[in-house]
Amino acid sequence: MKATANANANIALVKYWGKRNEKLILPHNSSISVTLDGLKTTTTAEFSKNFHKDEFTLNGERKSGEEAKKVSAHLTLIRKMFRRKEFCRVESQNNFPSSAGLASSSSAFAALTLASISALGFNPKPKELSIIARQGSGSASRSIFGGFAEWKKGVQVGGGDSYAVQLYPKEHWPEFRVLACIVSEEEKKVKSRAGMKQTVETSPFYRAWLATVEEDLKKTRRAIKEKNIGLLGKTAELNCLKMQATMITTAPSIVYWEEGTLKAMHAVWQLREEGVNAFFTMDAGPQVKITCLEKDLQKIKQRMNSEGFGKIIESRPGDGTVLSTKHLF
Ligand code: DP6
Repeated sequence: MKATANANANIALVKYWGKRNEKLILPHNSSISVTLDGLKTTTTAEFSKNFHKDEFTLNGERKSGEEAKKVSAHLTLIRKMFRRKEFCRVESQNNFPSSAGLASSSSAFAALTLASISALGFNPKPKELSIIARQGSGSASRSIFGGFAEWKKGVQVGGGDSYAVQLYPKEHWPEFRVLACIVSEEEKKVKSRAGMKQTVETSPFYRAWLATVEEDLKKTRRAIKEKNIGLLGKTAELNCLKMQATMITTAPSIVYWEEGTLKAMHAVWQLREEGVNAFFTMDAGPQVKITCLEKDLQKIKQRMNSEGFGKIIESRPGDGTVLSTKHLF
């Protein structure tokens, strides 16, 4: 009753921001992301009659509090769905900083979903995995798939039609790159879950955000299809800024940016003025992720280094969530 899964984090190009149902994690809008090969979570799950409670260890540290609770709640959902009662020991390892706005919950809940369901001896289809992963963390629905994925918001009350599908596998656009410039590794103060709830409830711009998402989805689907970095980058950059505008205008306002964030944004705009196809996107954290093509990597990395960004994580489109035989315990 033990299994291990590897999942890659994804970065949204058209963001998911705001829920219509908080319990089932149903979004107000569809979103599109790319699953990245450089941001990986490995999770081993073991169920046993001998365990008296769930246990969660992340990067070698035994967790209690909020994180352990979320993991246990997800395991409880899975136990209920598969009619099992055993408690579970979970160990996860991230190869990137957790909770710093690098979408760690996307890989975390995708890996946990596949590892725990497999440990129970079941083998659900990707669609079902996506629906279950979604209920751990919305963005995890997309990490089930490699390459480019779209999480369809769905319309059903029960969420049976709210899951991700693969738009294109990683082989479709192997030259595509994301450079995550680490501005700060401190844990963020407002988690995305609380941030988006507050935004839906209080930002006067939230409706405006929703009104423009469909158009961004259309442009992004087309840009990926045509491998048009200019259209993709510009659309993703503006989509991110629109989402950030809804965050800034909540009460109280949420600003994830730090000094380094703005510095990186200006450096990207400067590169563009010089004719380099570099675009940024950001999530619920200070990190700046640059979308670009392989041929421009050196120029962009050099510039970001000279601007003081020493830590840059480079990724290309990666695999979806898969089983592994290398158990962590
Ligand atoms: C800004 O998936 O972390 O990264 O569903 O509450 O767990 P919960 O939220 P989460 O939110 C991600 C928000 C985002 C945009 C995105 O990934 O689409």
